[in-house]
Amino acid sequence: MSLLPPPPAKLLDLGCGTGWTSCFFARRGYEVTGQDISEDMICYANLNKDKEELDNLHFIAGDYEGMDFSCEFNCAVFFDSLHHSLNEEDAIRMVYKALKPGGICVTSEPGLGHEVNPGTIDAVRKYNVIERDMPPEKIIHAGKKAGFTIFKVYPHALQLNALVYDRQLGHVGPPQRRSLKRLLRTKILNRLAPILGIAQSCFDTHDNGVLVEIHNIMANKQYNGITVMVK
Ligand SMILES: C[S@@+](CC[C@H](N)C(=O)[O-])C[C@H]1O[C@@H](n2cnc3c(N)ncnc32)[C@H](O)[C@@H]1O
Repeated sequence: MSLLPPPPAKLLDLGCGTGWTSCFFARRGYEVTGQDISEDMICYANLNKDKEELDNLHFIAGDYEGMDFSCEFNCAVFFDSLHHSLNEEDAIRMVYKALKPGGICVTSEPGLGHEVNPGTIDAVRKYNVIERDMPPEKIIHAGKKAGFTIFKVYPHALQLNALVYDRQLGHVGPPQRRSLKRLLRTKILNRLAPILGIAQSCFDTHDNGVLVEIHNIMANKQYNGITVMVK
């Protein structure tokens, strides 16, 4: 939430699905437009809106690659939805147009390696959906082409959450000292891993402490993370 302009800003929630994020933003005080390509999802989203009795929120069905907003919103969010696009450049160009000057686009998407994940391959086979890697690098490339000027990448909250809470207690202690050689080896392997399609966790040596894990997450931010772009 701290990456967004403060409420009551006008917020566009793209690929909102059943609208839980839209309701969340509306409860926080934003003027929310939730949008999804699926009419069924929009029906569920409206049911959720009614249940929560929110009036600073409305939903529309449509394709985020073909929207026609112009300088209307202070911020736009893709939460786990841009990686389903046919062409992310079209979607981001549309968002750029939809934002007011100084407007912010925040994306939280699966990064490099998503396409080759067995769960993803299974979903594509079962549900005939588009699933693509959507790392910050790709999003920023599209953002630059669209006209965005300022770019920042942050670790996913889930990565940090896993780091702090999913560790066995023994690993959440003071970080141990690590030789430069080992640090460099992990850094190089972690950079190569996504290119080679290998799980980066293979190279996370759990006995090296939380600090090194944070270092790894930050070092890989072009491959995975939350992207913020300013118009
Ligand atoms: C994984 S779901 C995420 C939904 C929601 N953001 C959430 O976090 O629960 C992806 C959503 O993106 C929507 N979507 C996919 N392609 C889209 C497009 N071109 N335009 C708008 N929505 C799209 C799908 O219908 C689906 O509801």
